[in-house]
Amino acid sequence: MAELLIDEYVQDGWKYVDGTLHCDGLRLERLRKELNDRFGWAASPVFVYSQSTLIQNVRHYTNALESLGGLGVLSYSIKANYNPRIIATLREAGTTMATCVSGNELQLAIQMGFPADQTILNGTGKHRWEVELAVRGNSLLNIDSLFDAQLVITVSRSLSVKARVLLRINPNVEAGTHPYLTTAHAASKFGVDDTLVDKVLDELRGAKENIDVKGVHVHIGSAITRVEAYADLMIASTQTLNKIRGSGWSGANIINLGGGLAVEFSSPLPSGYKGSQEVGKGNAWTKGQKAETEKHKVTTPSPKELVGAVTPLLPDNVTLILEPGRSLVATAGVVVTEVLGVKCSGERTFVVVDAAMTEVIRPALYGAIHPITYLSLPTRTQESCVASIVGPVCESGDFLAHDYPLPGPPPMTGSALAVWTTGAYCASMASNFNLRPQAMEVMVRGPDSYEVIRRPQHLADIIRACL
Ligand code: LLP
Repeated sequence: MAELLIDEYVQDGWKYVDGTLHCDGLRLERLRKELNDRFGWAASPVFVYSQSTLIQNVRHYTNALESLGGLGVLSYSIKANYNPRIIATLREAGTTMATCVSGNELQLAIQMGFPADQTILNGTGKHRWEVELAVRGNSLLNIDSLFDAQLVITVSRSLSVKARVLLRINPNVEAGTHPYLTTAHAASKFGVDDTLVDKVLDELRGAKENIDVKGVHVHIGSAITRVEAYADLMIASTQTLNKIRGSGWSGANIINLGGGLAVEFSSPLPSGYKGSQEVGKGNAWTKGQKAETEKHKVTTPSPKELVGAVTPLLPDNVTLILEPGRSLVATAGVVVTEVLGVKCSGERTFVVVDAAMTEVIRPALYGAIHPITYLSLPTRTQESCVASIVGPVCESGDFLAHDYPLPGPPPMTGSALAVWTTGAYCASMASNFNLRPQAMEVMVRGPDSYEVIRRPQHLADIIRACL
């Protein structure tokens, strides 16, 4: 039998002690009980975040960027997790800018204390109010297309101010990741195609008194394991920066290489597990799953390796912005979910838990793999089971994992599982499908210290806006 039991696994804040999972020293069975006493059924599933992991993740970047002196800047991509306490922790740990993709994210970033001129508004389509908000606050605005340039020009003229902009390019560099996670290939909706850069620059030059092109932005995609891809991006960005300088903005001095760095799983997968053999056979999901599984056989590059790969190519006196989301928050989060029951259908065993695609949509959407472990490990046994771990949502795509090997007999009703690496793109992509409330979130700060950072959602909260 494959060795499936984890006696002790440590990654940053997570550790099994005496067979039960602890986060920053807090026993999660204790947390479950206390939340249950306070909130009843609404306490599960729950997102649990490790504050120490968030801080360490920031430090990995700030330490790496230190080699650039003041010319290396860390900007958090809020879309990965917008919980205000998460944002506050990242900011206090040393993140100095925020990358936003909507007016609401921009407002939140400013409310959370990021100076407006230390924010970036990105987006393929922006409403006029969002552009106005960014232009008034002196944010950096990414120009994504000709029509986007025209909107920014119109707004900055009507406000009689000079907008600070970056030109988002599409350099047609393959990210080597899931098709839904790549953003810079020929058929992508993101950025200005190579052939249109001159045209967009001409348009902006026509409004030079209202537009200050500060540099280049590029984001190649997400979950990237090839650090060389960033070097390719740096080369393409430098060419565009020179073009911008030649077009009359000689002071342009920013290259923003986006986010995208993959993360190691925060818990090991059972050895030999390759993802579901069945889901999405022959379509993009299967490919994505394979890519995800294989990706984790290679070493995921660290922020230090990323910075090391691009620094030799960075032109003099140019500021490098990195705007990660996933690699700051993914490993800081775990979903703790209760087992509602076990059933068999045909040859298959289903472990039905109370977390679902409404909290963790990534397996359904990208065939993404999230390791799953017992919160408290069963006693060592030769027995094991292979199960589909699914939620209660009325949708066949509602699964957390298929064909997943678990140690021991199938888990008992009422016991709990941990779904790992769920700090990014899980709570922020949650939905109320089936009128399920958005799950609680808790930040653990130490062995005896935690804070509920999202209270349970009630039916009235969900339907309040329906008139
Ligand atoms: N900058 C830009 C312009 C972006 O579009 C993104 C992510 C980031 C930075 C941050 O990328 P990260 O470091 O988090 O990879 N829902 C997907 C991920 C979508 C990412 C979209 N853009 C997922 O669950 O994997």
